[in-house]
Amino acid sequence: MRQRKAILLAAGEGSRMKSKKAKVLHEVMGKSMVQRVVDVAKSAGLEEIAVIVGHQAEQVQEALKDSGVTFFLQQEQKGTGHAVMQAESFLEEGKDVVILYGDTPLLQKETLLSLMDFHEQAQNAVTIISSLVDQPDGYGRIVRDEAGQFVKNVEHKDASEAQRQIKEINSGIYCFDGGCLKEALKKINNQNAQGEYYLPDTLSVLKAEGKKVDAMVVSDSRQFLGVNTRAQLAQVQKVLQERVNAYWMNEGVTILDPATTYIADTVTVGMDTVIYPQTLLEGHTVIGENCQIGPCTRLMDMTVGDETTMQFTTAMESTVGSFTKVGPYAYIRPNCHIGNHIKVGDFVEVKNSVIGDGTKISHLTYVGDSDVGQNINFGCGTVTVNYDGKKKFRTVIEDNVFIGCNANLVAPVTLKEGSYVAAGSTITKDVPPKALAVARNRQTNLEGWSKK
Ligand code: UD1
Ligand code: CA
Repeated sequence: MRQRKAILLAAGEGSRMKSKKAKVLHEVMGKSMVQRVVDVAKSAGLEEIAVIVGHQAEQVQEALKDSGVTFFLQQEQKGTGHAVMQAESFLEEGKDVVILYGDTPLLQKETLLSLMDFHEQAQNAVTIISSLVDQPDGYGRIVRDEAGQFVKNVEHKDASEAQRQIKEINSGIYCFDGGCLKEALKKINNQNAQGEYYLPDTLSVLKAEGKKVDAMVVSDSRQFLGVNTRAQLAQVQKVLQERVNAYWMNEGVTILDPATTYIADTVTVGMDTVIYPQTLLEGHTVIGENCQIGPCTRLMDMTVGDETTMQFTTAMESTVGSFTKVGPYAYIRPNCHIGNHIKVGDFVEVKNSVIGDGTKISHLTYVGDSDVGQNINFGCGTVTVNYDGKKKFRTVIEDNVFIGCNANLVAPVTLKEGSYVAAGSTITKDVPPKALAVARNRQTNLEGWSKK
């Protein structure tokens, strides 16, 4: 197999995005467009990647600094050919180089692999990916001769009326022999409608020199969609969303409404789990089997066991075990470890806490910075008072504790094993094992008071 490299063009301005952020850094399904292209290149075995930066170069370099790519600066944007010229030192005789773009995040690994194989087997100097589309406006057109052989690419702005009728377009993605590309770049000019150095002009240069130039036609043209506007960003996101949902449905996950279900491609979902509408699964979330997730649930970097239900819930950076019920209207903040057979009910917030198996936190409760044992019952309206305005303190609740409604547990405080807290108490001292703590005034009834 020949050695292969990639050059990724990302110097363009992206003015139609109307954004302070570099176009290629806009995210689709939780990952920037340029990162997606880098990742797909790597997954296709392209380890050496040169990224051409120009507009907002620092931003793009910062975002990709851990990706192991090499940057080349294109000070002025004088066309795609000019962009590749900046990486001349990267081009090597005897190594293939694939040209990619930072704004085409739908490109698939399989397409890259078949391009490189096709190119290698045919021993071409360059292979271009083309596609047949109904609306070719704006794209470069592939001109072929009577025998159907590739002749050249013509940019839309330079094309004649007849050429504009051609439905075979240039995807912009090519596999070149590095040495051939290096030589051909020296022979292109900017004598065209846009006054730019067009990269596809290298194809006619090579062709004229008798080198083998061919186009590989790929039927799914959607994957070459380049993002120039926010509307196209939404279009691309829709395609990615459909792809990921189709994958999980194929793996045995039920998705009731794929149109409103967003699963990042870094997420995994177990078999027979049902996802209800309006659910977002983000980051490195892992969901077990037979769960019911949603409706209206957003999970970020969550690990969830099997047979667990989470509805109308926002949860992040935490773990939830199996057979547990969360929501509706629960909020799980970072660093919680919630066990099995637990109930985290309506209007309950849990933060930086461990909750033991079998515990019930059914309604209107805040549990923060707490170590909570097993089989505890939180009465409605319990508050762990964890903050004195300067510092946070922990609350420790041992197994089998029963907390009456509307109790405040002022941390640091410990409720020992099997103890009880009377409803309405504000607990400031530790409660011994099996004891009942009452911390409120006794009720006084003033007889006949209303008559006075
Ligand atoms: C290009 C192709 C066209 C093809 C289309 C597919 C050329 C001349 N035309 O057209 O045949 O059908 O892609 O989408 O190549 N860029 C730089 N530096 C530059 C110019 C561009 O980095 O100096 C980057 C841009 O950021 C962009 C990409 O290259 O991501 C494509 O450039 P653009 O000028 O938009 O080319 P198209 O008109 O789309
Ligand atoms: Ca252009």
